[in-house]
Amino acid sequence: MKYDFTFHNPTKIYFGKDSLDNLETELKKYGKRILLAYGGGSIKKNGIYDKVIAILKKCDKEVFECKDVLPNPALSKMLEGAKTIRDNDVDLVLAVGGGSVIDCAKGMSVAAYYDGDDVFKSYWVNHEPLHKNKIVPLGTVLTMVGTGSEMDAGSVISDTDNKIKNATDLFNPDFSILNPEYTYTLSKYQMVSGIFDCMSHLMEQYFSGDDDNTSDYLIEGIYKSIINATKIAVKNPLDYEARSNIMWCSTMALCGIAGKSKTQDWEVHMIEHQLSAYTNCAHGMGLCAISMPYYRYIYKFGLPKFVRFAKEVWGVDAIGKTDEQVALEGIDCMEKFAKECGMITTLKELGATKEMLPDIANSCILGGGYKKVTHEEILEILKNCYE
Ligand code: NZQ
Ligand code: ZN
Repeated sequence: MKYDFTFHNPTKIYFGKDSLDNLETELKKYGKRILLAYGGGSIKKNGIYDKVIAILKKCDKEVFECKDVLPNPALSKMLEGAKTIRDNDVDLVLAVGGGSVIDCAKGMSVAAYYDGDDVFKSYWVNHEPLHKNKIVPLGTVLTMVGTGSEMDAGSVISDTDNKIKNATDLFNPDFSILNPEYTYTLSKYQMVSGIFDCMSHLMEQYFSGDDDNTSDYLIEGIYKSIINATKIAVKNPLDYEARSNIMWCSTMALCGIAGKSKTQDWEVHMIEHQLSAYTNCAHGMGLCAISMPYYRYIYKFGLPKFVRFAKEVWGVDAIGKTDEQVALEGIDCMEKFAKECGMITTLKELGATKEMLPDIANSCILGGGYKKVTHEEILEILKNCYE
């Protein structure tokens, strides 16, 4: 392991068909006043809301709600939730939903008693260390799989007025309840969007460095597991084994362990965040569209790793081929897989217009793994996945 690192993940995970049974035990650890944060209504349709409310009532909790936390959550919604926490002296935030609800709930918890002038600027723009003010604890019930927010500190919030979608690290949930059956009601579109998000998290960490690192072997293993499970789940969404593997792969991909001692890339995510700031597209689908031209552009700067990816993950036969051919065949395999699963590979399908592309490119935070890209290079990449 080339670089020193610290690893600490404080989130307690309850996983499986009966995992919600543990909510009662967890709730006993907190005071009476709970803020229930959720999205646009899926949990009311599939019955998860009723199950959670029944447990909250049984535990004699006083429940306040912050509903309509929509995909690519807005700063205004986060501040609304923070006010509800403050006004009602909330003891625990319980986020029931996907990455958007959980990310926004993390933001509500830190913003409730924030003691500065502009919480978005402090944490999401300037990445200041968290101030000393009180942070309300958070528990989650996960219903959409992909982001890893259930076991990481990440929070991605959109300042819709200024068209900026920024990520930061805040704090981990105290506990997260992961029942794969809760994901059965996701549309195929959302299911595969989350799956590509997981794949992207793995690649963002993998495509960096040239040392022999255990993290790369871990990533290859998780990646192969999610490809296998996805092929099954696309055909049979009610296959518990496949859905549970997809859920755990996604959590593992971003709980911190898979990227240890690596410099990492994350430029595909930086570009996608601005793409969704302009189009409000589903995060995983945006990543999918951007990934193919991005990797076809940067593979030559990290050729041995792209050859390894093609051979180890996609089983590309290298005999009689140049390294360039093998590397490109690996990316072709990923694209074929994405299309077969119904993932989106063009920006046009995600609602982008040609006129938006320069603004999207110019507003991206610059980073990269094997290659530090410029705004001009990002614009070329975006043009290559427009239609
Ligand atoms: O709002 P409701 O009605 O609940 O519907 C949601 C939403 O429309 C629906 N859904 C969720 N669970 C469902 C369901 N529909 C039926 N049955 C269920 N069981 O799915 C839609 C998408 O939900 P959302 O939470 O937006 O999806 P996702 O989990 O992909 O979260 C995306 C957000 O997370 C951020 C993204 O940028 C984006 O803002 N990310 C967070 C990260 C983190 N915290 O570490 C890292 C990621 O890279 C990512 O950037
Ligand atoms: Zn992501």
